[in-house]
Amino acid sequence: MSTSGRVGILISGRGSNMVALIEAMQRGEIAAETAIVISNRPDAGGLARARALGVMTRVVDSGVVKPRKLHEQRVIELLREQRVDLVCLAGYMRLLSAGMVAEFRQRILNIHPSLLPAFPGLDAQRQALDYGVRFTGCTVHFVDEACDHGPIVLQAAVPVEPDDDEARLSARILEQEHRLYVRAVRLFFDQRLEIDGRRVTIAGGVS
Ligand code: GRF
Repeated sequence: MSTSGRVGILISGRGSNMVALIEAMQRGEIAAETAIVISNRPDAGGLARARALGVMTRVVDSGVVKPRKLHEQRVIELLREQRVDLVCLAGYMRLLSAGMVAEFRQRILNIHPSLLPAFPGLDAQRQALDYGVRFTGCTVHFVDEACDHGPIVLQAAVPVEPDDDEARLSARILEQEHRLYVRAVRLFFDQRLEIDGRRVTIAGGVS
């Protein structure tokens, strides 16, 4: 790893987690810089936000670049070209193949808006409301071959209030997501994370 780490961020949408990460790196809170933001959708709102922050963006349009394998190959090439040390999925609505996971083994993080393993997949906040849990939250985890499944780095719990709808609950979780993702990426570049099977040890404890 280079002295200042290089991060590739993959998005499909508005990119609020992406912005939180870029800004934390730009403030020097993480020992890394954003090398590239890649979107699989040309209309992702996050693209303009990344450019406004001075970050290079690329679109690999999954509606055009097909099949899936070719699309992913293009994404991998861009990440390789930029010599990224860490890939952060930030609202990236594509499953990664085993090949991509192997290429960046233990170097891909994702954020998910629930306390995994509860409510994986789409609409996690809706799932939590429908289930009637009193607490939900968010999880940053390493990515493996299965969806929302890899070793957990950090979690934050968020209460579900009686009058919550999906939008209110999502907003409360999102606030925590931004903080949690920054902390997890900082721990990664401070080389404090060690993966042992499903368990991630944090040198010096969670802080
Ligand atoms: C977040 O809730 C994240 O946990 C999930 O997708 C959403 C992306 O939001 N994976 P944003 O694009 O980061 O604003």
